[in-house]
Amino acid sequence: TRSRIRVRTGALAVALALLAAACTSGGSGGVKGTPGAAGLRDPYFPKQGNGGYDVRHYALTLSYDPASGRLDGRAEITAEATQDLSAFNLDLAGLTVRDATVGGAPAAVNRAGNELTLRPREDIDKGTEFRAVVRYSGVPETITDSDGSKEGWLKTADGALALGEPTGSMAWFPGNHHPSDKAAYDITVTVPAGLTALSNGVRTAERKEADGRTTSVWHAAEPMASYLAMLAIGRYDTSTGTLAPGTAGTGAGAGAGIPVLSAADPEVAAKTAALRARVPEILDWQTENFGPYPFAAAGVVVERDDDIGYALETQTRPVFPASSFDPSTLVHELAHQWYGDSVTPATWSDLWLNEGFATYAEWLYAEDFGHTPAQKNFEKQYANEDAWAYSPAHPPTAEDLFGTPVYERGAMVLHRIRQVVGDDTFYEILAGWPAKYRHATATTEDFTEYVDSMTEEDLSDVWDVWLYGDGKPAHITD
Ligand code: ARG
Ligand code: ZN
Repeated sequence: TRSRIRVRTGALAVALALLAAACTSGGSGGVKGTPGAAGLRDPYFPKQGNGGYDVRHYALTLSYDPASGRLDGRAEITAEATQDLSAFNLDLAGLTVRDATVGGAPAAVNRAGNELTLRPREDIDKGTEFRAVVRYSGVPETITDSDGSKEGWLKTADGALALGEPTGSMAWFPGNHHPSDKAAYDITVTVPAGLTALSNGVRTAERKEADGRTTSVWHAAEPMASYLAMLAIGRYDTSTGTLAPGTAGTGAGAGAGIPVLSAADPEVAAKTAALRARVPEILDWQTENFGPYPFAAAGVVVERDDDIGYALETQTRPVFPASSFDPSTLVHELAHQWYGDSVTPATWSDLWLNEGFATYAEWLYAEDFGHTPAQKNFEKQYANEDAWAYSPAHPPTAEDLFGTPVYERGAMVLHRIRQVVGDDTFYEILAGWPAKYRHATATTEDFTEYVDSMTEEDLSDVWDVWLYGDGKPAHITD
C-alpha cells in the first residue's frame, strides 16, 4: 500500500481510508494511479514522448497501398509502468485510431492533436509490464520541419519512405516518440506484388500472400530510438553480403559475419553500385577506430534525389539521396551507427554529440585516406563565420538544430579535445565513449564528465569556450 498524502485530521483520514478501500476493492479503476505526462519537456519538442512508462518492444504490423496512399497499422507496444498509471499517452500525428486494448481489454481512446490517450479499465501498477495494442489507418502525413526539410511519411515515385528525425515517426506509428526511450522492434510490412519493403535490422522472412502481395518481416533486436526507425517501400535493386568474420566485433552477428544489405532505387542502382560495395570496408575502418560495430545488421538504401532531400542514419540501414551518396557522407551516416544510434542523445539539445562525431569521422577519413589532416578542416571551420552563431549544445530554436554550429563547431570541440589530450587518449575516447554508453542514452554532461575522467589535462577551456561559449574564441589554440 502506498500513500502519497499524509492526512492529519482524523475525520478526513477516515473518509479517505473508506474511499480508498471502496476503490481498490471495487476492481474497476481506483484512485491510486494518475495519468502519465503528455510530454517529456524536451527543450525543443516539449510534447514529444510521454511520462509514466518505458517501452521495451514495438511490434508493428503494417500494410501499405501506394495507389490509394493508405496505411493500415497495428502497433503492439510492450512497456513497463514507471508509476501507477490510470492513463497514458502515445504520440501520433494524423491517421485514425480504430480501437485500442491494454492487457487484452478494451481501453478508452481520446485524441487531442498529436496526443493519443489510452485509459485502461484497470490501473497499471508501477513496475509491471503491460501490453497495449492500437489499430489505426489512414493516409500518413508528411511533416515539414521548422528548417524546411521533410520527414514523416514521404511518397516516392513507386512507394513511400518513412523517416523520423527529429519527430517524423509519429506520422506512421503511435509510440513514445522521444530519443530517451529506446526499444527493440519487429516490423512486418505487406505491400503490393512487385514491391519490396525494407526496414531496420535483419529480414527474418519474406513471403507471398494468397492475394499476391508481399510481406517482409524485420527484426531489430538492439534498442532503437524511434526517430531511427525507417521504412522504404518500392522497387529496389538489392545485394547482400556479410562483413568478414571477426571484423565488426561483438554484436549478435560477430564471428558469423554481420549481414549487409545494399539497396538502391533501380534508376540510381548502377551509378551507386561501386560505392555501395565499399560499405564493409568503411565499417572495418570504423571498427578499428570506434570499436565493435554495435548492431547485428548493416547496409544502405539509396533513393532518387526527387524522393528525399537529405541523408539519414536510420539504424543499421541509413538512407541517402543518390546525389549525396559520396564517400564522405557514407562515412558520416555509418559513423552515426556508433554515435547517435548506439549512444543516443538523451534530449534534442544533445544532438551535437551525434553530428559533431559524425562530422569528425569525415575529417578522420580525409586524414587517413585523403591526405587532409583533421587540423586543416579545423582551421577551415574556425574561419567559417556560420560555425560561430551559437553553442552546439544550445541551438536557439528547433530551426537551428541541424545548423552549422552543431555539425562543424561540434567537430571542432572534438578536435580541441584531441589537441589537449593527444592522439593516444583521443582514440581511447573515440572508442570508449560508444563502449560506455552502448545501446543507451547520454547527455552533454555525461560526455564532458567521461572525457574529464580519461585525462589529467585541464579541459575547462574546451568546455567553457569551445563547447559552451558565445561567439568565436579569440585564438585558434590557447
Ligand atoms: N541526421 C542527418 C545527418 O546525417 C540529418 C537530418 C536532417 N533532418 C532535418 N530535419 N533537418 O546529418
Ligand atoms: Zn549526421
